[in-house]
Amino acid sequence: MDLEKIRLDFPALAKKWNGKQLIYFDNACMTLKPGQVMDAMDRYYSDYPVCGGRSLHRMAKQVDEKVTESREKIQKFLGAARPEEIIFTRNTTEGLNLVANCLEFKKGDIVLTTDREHNSNLIPWQIQSHRKGIRHVIVYSDQDNTFDLAGFEEIFNKNNNVRLVSMVHTANLDGYTIPAKEIVKIAHDHSALVMLDGAQSAPHRPVDLKALDVDFFALSIHKMLGPTGMGVLYGKQHLLEKMAPFMVGGDTVSDTTFEAAKFLPTPEKFEAGLQNYAGIIGSGAAVDYLTKIGLSNIEKHEERLNRIITERIKDIPGLTIIGPQDPGQRGGIISFTVELPKGGDAHDIAIVLDETANIAVRSGAFCVHSWFNYRKCQPAVRASLYLYNTEDEAETFIDTLRKTINLFNP
Ligand code: ALA
Repeated sequence: MDLEKIRLDFPALAKKWNGKQLIYFDNACMTLKPGQVMDAMDRYYSDYPVCGGRSLHRMAKQVDEKVTESREKIQKFLGAARPEEIIFTRNTTEGLNLVANCLEFKKGDIVLTTDREHNSNLIPWQIQSHRKGIRHVIVYSDQDNTFDLAGFEEIFNKNNNVRLVSMVHTANLDGYTIPAKEIVKIAHDHSALVMLDGAQSAPHRPVDLKALDVDFFALSIHKMLGPTGMGVLYGKQHLLEKMAPFMVGGDTVSDTTFEAAKFLPTPEKFEAGLQNYAGIIGSGAAVDYLTKIGLSNIEKHEERLNRIITERIKDIPGLTIIGPQDPGQRGGIISFTVELPKGGDAHDIAIVLDETANIAVRSGAFCVHSWFNYRKCQPAVRASLYLYNTEDEAETFIDTLRKTINLFNP
């Protein structure tokens, strides 16, 4: 990967704040955008800024062509069988909520999650427990913070009504990736469906949905160089066909009477109302960009930087890395807590990193409050890496972090 060349594509990396460049390590939350994505969206806004899916004039047809093109690019990027299996959403959260609300459940059906789910794959199941009487069961991690495959299989041996396994593929908490292929095999052997929250996997490593054989997969385009407020839900066509729509309205139907509606097939029935056409077109450009760089290259690059940072911070007194200790099991994420007996917390560290060296990290519970509460763990600092981060930035982060901790622990 030619980092110098790549960095030139990201205008935000060239901008100076207080005379210094930014070190952007908050990529698990949102990534920066390359010019190629913004140009594609600008072209929509300047040349054909109209509605798709309805009118028959040439500008509308151009929108339809571009939307179809983006859908097909994302289908190929994920290794989905058909473009109809790609539904545009606002984010991963919306995709997960769509399935939680639209998949049929019987009272007593079990939904399995891990113990490190983002709130978006936790709260929907709490709500469905009340509404539909499902049973939400958590598969707790092993002592070393990896997935307890034996414990997972045991749940199936003791229960014959697991309907859905809904799990975070790569955790935004600590970067750990669950053994998805094995999980899918066990679930399918017991007639259960599998949905993965792919928000932190699809942007960072190759994902082949056909090989994984997963039933649903949700992701956020804004975490993979694309426009904000764009996401994708993948679902196997035969499952989507059987599901009732989530939001309903314009462009989801072929006909209505005062009494009834005739719904279109997937994906139309799940994409209600006027869509974010610029966002969809920008999503196609983001996928083009990532495909050109190569997901395996991105994965290797992040792992290398993670190893450099982990090796140099793991022995700082009072610092504890969250998740598996081997950086090879944590992708591009390094989350940690620091004991500061003389005062200060994770947020103070994040603010000082930003104030002194323009280093952007995230601090707190990263929307995984349940994990922090269960472990009685204090808020943490998270550095999350991406394709444009450099070894120099990693070095600056390590030095500034040491100085910052010394400031609070003189
Ligand atoms: N889920 C996003 C994060 O972890 C917002 O930062």
